Amino acid sequence: MNLTSLSLTNFRNYARLELALSSGLTLIQGANAQGKTSLLEAVYYLATSKSPHAGVERELVNWLAREDANRFLRVQGHVRHAAPGVIAEQLEVILAPTNGSTASYGKRVRINGVVQRALDLVGHLRVVLFLPEDIELVSGAPSVRRRYLDIALCQIEPDYCRSLSTYNQVIQQRNALLRQLRDRGGHAQQLTFWDDQLVKLGAHLMQRRQWFISALELAARERQRALTDGRERLYVEYLPSVDPAQDPAQVANQLSLAYDVIAEGHSPYAARSAREIAEAFQAQLAAVRSREIAAAMTLLGPHRDDMRFLVYGRDLRTYGSRGQQRTATLALKLAEVEVMTQTTAESPVLLLDDVMSELDESRRATLLQALDGVTQALLTTTDWNDFSPDFRRRATRLHVTEGRVAEAPRDQTTDRP
Ligand SMILES: Nc1ncnc2c1ncn2[C@@H]1O[C@H](COP(=O)(O)OP(=O)(O)OP(=O)(O)O)[C@@H](O)[C@H]1O
Ligand SMILES: [Mg+2]
Repeated sequence: MNLTSLSLTNFRNYARLELALSSGLTLIQGANAQGKTSLLEAVYYLATSKSPHAGVERELVNWLAREDANRFLRVQGHVRHAAPGVIAEQLEVILAPTNGSTASYGKRVRINGVVQRALDLVGHLRVVLFLPEDIELVSGAPSVRRRYLDIALCQIEPDYCRSLSTYNQVIQQRNALLRQLRDRGGHAQQLTFWDDQLVKLGAHLMQRRQWFISALELAARERQRALTDGRERLYVEYLPSVDPAQDPAQVANQLSLAYDVIAEGHSPYAARSAREIAEAFQAQLAAVRSREIAAAMTLLGPHRDDMRFLVYGRDLRTYGSRGQQRTATLALKLAEVEVMTQTTAESPVLLLDDVMSELDESRRATLLQALDGVTQALLTTTDWNDFSPDFRRRATRLHVTEGRVAEAPRDQTTDRP
């Protein structure tokens, strides 16, 4: 698929932007703090209605606009599809002050002019974004990895997204009931209804995560091999909160154990059906019931999942060098492009922010080769010379200054050594 146009109002340092985008490679150059990352962020926002970072979405609204309750953030774009049937779509996300005050903002999504739930936006424009800080995927907290899995899977499977949204509501309701049971007592049987929901939705989410991670691993291993001249074999391991191989009685004892403490080495999680997961989930839930009531918290389920990355049987989170973590993250993102392309029959739009700066020559060359299969990629850089003259010739070249984007003068981009 292709994003053919992007229109921004009050998005970060872009007060106003109208930009036509070409398919193939687009290289966006600019000095520091001019708006390169913001531009990719805007595309990501249009695709997911989320900021790449879990945080306050209001931060995306232009500072000056935030002082005025009549001004709002708007991102709009046109998407052209490769798949037969749907040819072009217009997507729009608006973040506007509610109740005439900039203290709170509300979001509105439109697809082809029709108001839709934010949930339903995801999947219309599929993107894979690589930011320098995405190394956090390997090195950061489990919640970063769960967020990554959720956004990737939501883009591929609308069903996953719906289950996830209901699951999150179930967790809230169930936690409220657990709190009530703890504070005011009552029959624990009241939990049965929420347990059933939790198990059914949770098993679906975990089964799909299991599938996605194994598909990712296959593709990422190839990428890692290429990026490291065959030296590194990458394993991507799912660490589900509920593993049918575990004995429910043991689960109750192990709950507080962090995954880091579990034995080193690669012990792949055996693929399970949603039913197997559901049965194990139900049994393990029963075993932790009293602890859940004491904690007033749902202690098992996909909201407690994690995954890890191993090279030479060692967890990259603990033992990986920064370069290794970065390469693994890149391999993962390129693998995500591949899995998305295979499952949706359309290549997603690839957004690479400042990806070259920390890569050595051979990794740069491997990365650029990998772009051949992508129908549209936007890459940012501070320095044209990070890209070979041949690559620069093949790309559409844009220049960003102070939130304005223009075609780059030719002599700046191709004629220098
Ligand atoms: N909500 C906002 N409103 C206005 N400006 C903002 C907002 N958020 C960030 N900025 C500013 O926008 C400018 C562009 O930021 P951006 O991260 O896009 O720069 P960049 O071109 O990627 O720079 P670098 O090369 O350093 O990564 C920065 O000066 C930043 O401080
Ligand atoms: Mg930047």
